Amino acid sequence: MIKPLRKAVLPVAGLGTRFLPATKAMAKEMLPVVDKPLIQYAVDEARAAGIEQFCMVTGRGKTALVEHFDIAYELEMTLRERGKHRELRELREGHLPPGAIATVRQQEPLGLGHAIWCARAFIGDDPFAILLPDDLVLADVPCTLQLAQAYQETGGCVVAVSEVPHDQTNRYGILDVAHDDGRLVEVRGLVEKPKPEVAPSNLSIIGRYVLMPQVMRYLERMERGAGGEVQLTDAMARLIGEVPFHGLRYEGRRFDCGDKVGFLEAQVAFALKRPDLGPAVRAFLKNYVHACAEPVS
Ligand code: UTP
Repeated sequence: MIKPLRKAVLPVAGLGTRFLPATKAMAKEMLPVVDKPLIQYAVDEARAAGIEQFCMVTGRGKTALVEHFDIAYELEMTLRERGKHRELRELREGHLPPGAIATVRQQEPLGLGHAIWCARAFIGDDPFAILLPDDLVLADVPCTLQLAQAYQETGGCVVAVSEVPHDQTNRYGILDVAHDDGRLVEVRGLVEKPKPEVAPSNLSIIGRYVLMPQVMRYLERMERGAGGEVQLTDAMARLIGEVPFHGLRYEGRRFDCGDKVGFLEAQVAFALKRPDLGPAVRAFLKNYVHACAEPVS
C-alpha cells in the first residue's frame, strides 16, 4: 500500500548570499513576491497538495519565518473594528491548525542535504515532500500536487524537473535518464552540478521533491559533494534501484527567487496574473519598455 503524503520539509537555513544586502538581517524566504512572502507561497502550495504537517529547518536570524504563521490577535481585532473584512479573511485563510508547524535548527549551513537530515525525527518512516521556498512555481495545478499525484502512480521518489540550456548544467542537479515518456522520466542516475561536457542530460531538478524516508540513511553518512556541501542529490542518487525514482516534467513556470533576476521576473509574472494588479502592471510595462527602446538623442 502506498503511504499517504502528509509531511513536508521546508529548508530555510541558508545564508542567501546572492541576495545581500537584503538578507543581512532578514531571511531570504521572507522576501515578498507582490504581497506575500516566499515562505507562505510554499506553505500554501503544500497545503493544496494535502500536506498537513510542516517542518521548517531554520537557523540564526530566521524567527520571523516561524512568527509569520502565528495568529496576530491584535491585528485581526483592529482589522475587524475598521471593517477591513477582505484583509481579515485573507489573513485567516493562512492560519494553520495548532501544532501543524514544527521547527528544527540547522546550526551551521552545511548544505541542503544536511538541512534535510536535520528533520529526520520529524520524518520518521513517512514519505515527505520538500519545497525550497526560494523556488516559486507559477502553475494552474500547484507543482507539489502534481508531484503528489505522480507519487500515487509510481509509489516512489519523484522530483520536479525542467530543461535547462546545455551550457548551464553546472548550476543544477541533473538527471541521467533511463526512459522518458515525455511526462514521467525514469531515472538511472543523478549528478550535482556537472560540467556541460559530462552532463548526462539537460533535465534539471527544481526545488520540489517527494522522497522516501530511506534517504536519511544515506544523508547520515555526511559525505561532502559539490562545493564541499552535504548534497541532497548525492543521497537521492543512492536510492535509485532501491525505490522507484522518477522525474516529473511539471506543468508551470519556475522562478529562481534566490537570484535577483529570477526574483524580478517572478514579481512581474505574479503581478500580471492578479486581476487587481495585472492591467496596471501591463500598461506600465508597455509604456516603460517602449520608452526604454527609444533611441537616445
Ligand atoms: P541555496 O542553494 O539557495 O543557498 O539553498 P542559500 O544559502 O539559501 O543562498 P545563496 O546561494 O547563498 O544565495 C536552497 C535552499 O536550501 C536551504 C536554503 O535556505 C534554501 O531554501 N539551505 C541551504 C539550508 O536550509 N541549509 C543549507 O545549509 C543550505
